[in-house]
Amino acid sequence: MIPSQVSIVEVGPRDGLQNEKQALSAAQKLELIKLLSQTGLRRIEAGAFVSPKWVPQMANSDEVIKALNSEPDIHYSALTPNVKGMEAAIESGVKEVAVFGAASESFSQKNINCSISESLKRFEDIFELASKNNIKVRGYVSCVMGCPYEGDISPNAVSQVSKELIDMGCYEVSLGDTIGVGTPKATMLLLDDVLKEISVSKIAAHFHDTYGQALVNLYTALGYGVSTIDSAVAGLGGCPYAKGASGNVATEDVLYMLNGMDISTGVDMNKLLVASSYISNVLGRSPISKSANALLAE
Ligand code: HMG
Ligand code: MG
Repeated sequence: MIPSQVSIVEVGPRDGLQNEKQALSAAQKLELIKLLSQTGLRRIEAGAFVSPKWVPQMANSDEVIKALNSEPDIHYSALTPNVKGMEAAIESGVKEVAVFGAASESFSQKNINCSISESLKRFEDIFELASKNNIKVRGYVSCVMGCPYEGDISPNAVSQVSKELIDMGCYEVSLGDTIGVGTPKATMLLLDDVLKEISVSKIAAHFHDTYGQALVNLYTALGYGVSTIDSAVAGLGGCPYAKGASGNVATEDVLYMLNGMDISTGVDMNKLLVASSYISNVLGRSPISKSANALLAE
């Protein structure tokens, strides 16, 4: 059941950089995205059209996305929380956006300032604009294995929101363990429920590594046939509305595991290390990736 091929969605330039204290210039982000684009990665989340008052680090997403070279094989995407964000996304020329909801009411309020049902209502307008402009829409569900405000979240709450997003027109739903609290058991309970509603080909795993569980949870998800994995180069980031949440699982660690399992990704580790070293130098620290540090020390 373990897939022979996995598609890695690189979210470092968005999920990573949105939570780094040091805001990067558009030129620095473009250099990072250029290096990532040379690794064989085919899906890169490049920015977010969110309020600059809420997330100042993403304020130059517009400039970044407009300046991206339109590599035909690479799919760049951006987050859009509402119509204002969607209009900016259309203006930028991006061909894929992501709406982001949550399985926790409190997190929804803190992150996008509305309830879960209000968020779904807002997304309807985004879908309408997306279909008129031939833009693909991905969906995120946050807090799939726990919420910083509510604690445990039932797998069924995740399934319901995920199914709504698919029914509305998302081609894929990415399950976010926003605060990285999940364990293999929680991953199994989650996927047992979600996969009753949604085909595994439409599910992505988006696990933060706060408690060091991301890789083992990804291994568990691979066992269910999940073949799309989100990760961030150098383990960048976190979530500004989930205190203490550390970055996504590092792309280097995911790639090391997948390479060792003979699962193909098309991504070149040496080139990925170049991108990892670049962004780590900019931020003045080592990559938050055991594989990257071990390989760079060889
Ligand atoms: P609001 O304050 O309720 O919005 O924020 P509003 O409609 O009342 O507007 C207030 C102001 O924001 C106005 O400006 C609007 O023009 C402006 P003012 O009149 O005060 O000058 N505004 C915008 N500006 C730029 N772009 C926009 C936009 N919309 C309104 N799109 C809103 C609501 C959704 C905008 C806000 O809550 C927001 O931007 N939230 C985003 C938070 C965020 O980016 N969180 C991180 C991403 S999610 C995540 O990391 C989780 C994920 O990785 C998965 C996982 O790990 O679980 C995806
Ligand atoms: Mg995230």
